[in-house]
Amino acid sequence: MEVKTKQYLILHPRPVYIIGSGKYGEKENLMAASWVMPVSEEPPKVAVSVDRESYTHELIEKYGEFTINVVEENYLDEIWLLGTTSGKEVNKIAKTKLTVVEGKKVNAPIVKEAIGILEVKVTDKVDIGECRLYIGEIIYAEADLEKYNLRYGWNLRKAKLIHHLAGKAFMTNGKVLFPKTE
Ligand SMILES: Cc1cc2nc3c(=O)[nH]c(=O)nc-3n(C[C@H](O)[C@H](O)[C@H](O)COP(=O)(O)O)c2cc1C
Repeated sequence: MEVKTKQYLILHPRPVYIIGSGKYGEKENLMAASWVMPVSEEPPKVAVSVDRESYTHELIEKYGEFTINVVEENYLDEIWLLGTTSGKEVNKIAKTKLTVVEGKKVNAPIVKEAIGILEVKVTDKVDIGECRLYIGEIIYAEADLEKYNLRYGWNLRKAKLIHHLAGKAFMTNGKVLFPKTE
């Protein structure tokens, strides 16, 4: 049957992250985002699509950098709050159990409780519909090596990652599958 609305949901569930923007100690904001993807390995670049009405958009425009923070399922309520209220109106961070600290190579805030962090400087922008797609270079990255392996990535027995399905529905790790190989 043809799908005429919210076609993007066909591509969900998608991992959900926290985007940190602004300048640590001055103007800080966090928002939930699932429209995030790697776009090149050399140089290491990622892209995130950000609504132009969001406070995150305002801050990324101002400072030209952002962070991508991976939190686990115990912070689902925080993800929901960060994804349903705007830093333009409330100090969201103060309403969560999360703590922000300064990035190592960017001024944008990072989430202390995150098990993975990318610090990104914007290199390209493309306006698409209501959003601005920010493409940026990863200038520093960090992961919790109790839960992450430099070759194989996340250890899903330990890292309880969050994926967004639709609306208020989220999921976490199920089965790990491997394709048949010769
Ligand atoms: C699970 C989830 C994923 C989201 N993904 C995105 C996204 O990729 N891009 C975006 O612009 N907004 C996304 N949002 C909506 C923003 O988080 C929301 O508009 C937020 O209030 C913006 O906050 P700000 O104004 O403080 O920047 C998402 C919300 C949720 C709950």
